[in-house]
Amino acid sequence: MIKLSPSILSADFVRLDREIKQMEDNGIKYLHVDVMDGMFVPNISIGMPVIKSIRKCTDLVLDVHLMIEKPERYIDEFIKLGCDIINFHIEATDKHREIIEKVKNAGKKVGMTIKPKTSYEEILPYIKDLDLVLVMGVEPGFGGQKLIEDSLLKTKALREYITEHNLSCELEIDGGVKIDNVKRVVEAGANVIVVGSDLFEREDRKDIIERYNKVFEEVI
Ligand code: DX5
Ligand code: ZN
Repeated sequence: MIKLSPSILSADFVRLDREIKQMEDNGIKYLHVDVMDGMFVPNISIGMPVIKSIRKCTDLVLDVHLMIEKPERYIDEFIKLGCDIINFHIEATDKHREIIEKVKNAGKKVGMTIKPKTSYEEILPYIKDLDLVLVMGVEPGFGGQKLIEDSLLKTKALREYITEHNLSCELEIDGGVKIDNVKRVVEAGANVIVVGSDLFEREDRKDIIERYNKVFEEVI
């Protein structure tokens, strides 16, 4: 099933409860939460206290994207906070197996993420143990950037691998997705679609979510 995972990085943080409620009211199931440390990426976003508050106000699947160096330092805390999917970057650690095991043993879902310059093949040794693979469509750090076309080729190659090996992991794409390129994104094989600016910077969220869902229905 193809679904949106709205990225709250572009939401109004003062009105986050209303922003989230609006997503729920429009049938959204996943919520993408970007955590940045100013080291792994040249930006700082939100961390534990905000996730704690979000968790209290929604039952949406919290799809947390850790853009932090050495994520193994904080995995226990993100598990405790009630994150449902914990995505960490392959480039940020050398403790891949340890993180995967820890997240899965806690009954949470684990995702591994690759930056635009990282080959999709680097993820293959781990893919059987992952619940999700997250392909960056832009250099991580900021919303509102343009989709890097090569990400679609990676998405396609990963989808082929997943199908060929009969794996159940989800394939997510994050960054640069807009209503006018999302058809190509889902045709490439992504089934979890992160959208930040193209959703939260619009007045009529109901309308834009419906337009995305229409594209998803057409592609199936
Ligand atoms: C970028 C973040 C994205 C970002 C996507 O580092 O990981 O989740 O919010 O934003 P848009 O959809 O505006 O490219
Ligand atoms: Zn993200």
